[in-house]
Amino acid sequence: MTVIARATGLYRFHEHGDRKEAVLRGIDLDVHAGEFVCVMGPSGSGKSTLLHLLSGLDKPSAGHVSLEGARLDQVVEPERTLLRRRTIGHVFQFFHLLPNLTVIENVGLPIAIEGGHPEEQAERLSGLLGTLGLAGREDALVHELSGGEMQRVSIARALAGGQPLLLCDEPTGNLSQKAGLEVMQILRRLRDEEGKSVLLVTHNPRDATFADRVLFLVDGEIAKDVQLEGPGIEVEQVHETLASLSI
Ligand SMILES: Nc1ncnc2c1ncn2[C@@H]1O[C@H](COP(=O)(O)OP(=O)(O)OP(=O)(O)O)[C@@H](O)[C@H]1O
Ligand SMILES: [Mg+2]
Repeated sequence: MTVIARATGLYRFHEHGDRKEAVLRGIDLDVHAGEFVCVMGPSGSGKSTLLHLLSGLDKPSAGHVSLEGARLDQVVEPERTLLRRRTIGHVFQFFHLLPNLTVIENVGLPIAIEGGHPEEQAERLSGLLGTLGLAGREDALVHELSGGEMQRVSIARALAGGQPLLLCDEPTGNLSQKAGLEVMQILRRLRDEEGKSVLLVTHNPRDATFADRVLFLVDGEIAKDVQLEGPGIEVEQVHETLASLSI
């Protein structure tokens, strides 16, 4: 199976005065093509740090990250940035959309910034908006949308360049139960129907039931790695695992 992103012996230290704190302590992780991985763990356990290292937004103190087989630390600019952008789309808790632009303008922006022509991509973008339940909403202004719609727009924007891997940092954290469920169903559909890989950080045990694999991060280490035969860890099992790890 193709590995889209690989972390090898990943450490990240932060300096606090003359004290060094290890946020991540030797993380090894492969995310395969078409795999849906969920990461859970207490606040401060290093989940966002892990996503930042995988996407090259932050650099590891030791170890390395490979995207599509190329080690990020061995690729020079501007290829490094191109590799990161081509491979990874980001989705955040607070959407990070431009409120006074329309849905299609927000989604097409990354392509426009890269010098591509959003019009030429129109067909693909409109297919993507359809998958995300946003057909007919192209010309709505972002500030007119519901939170769930905004998050779906940010997913569309993250995938506008055809990226194979979505990194999602608490994408349901700011949504109602219902809107969060819709977002999770869409993420699962992107995996099932489009072959996307998803690496999702969440505090919500319900979200973990959509994953193929659930990692429990405690104090910067993978304390438990639950690989599932098919989709569908039971929510009770998530609760039990969290409790057994004192999360
Ligand atoms: N730039 C920084 N300088 C110093 N310490 C940092 C920095 N960034 C993160 N940390 C520390 O690293 C630890 C892990 O942070 P991280 O944001 O990865 O946690 P998290 O698991 O995502 O938490 P949450 O669930 O609250 O989002 C925390 O103790 C945090 O204070
Ligand atoms: Mg975080």
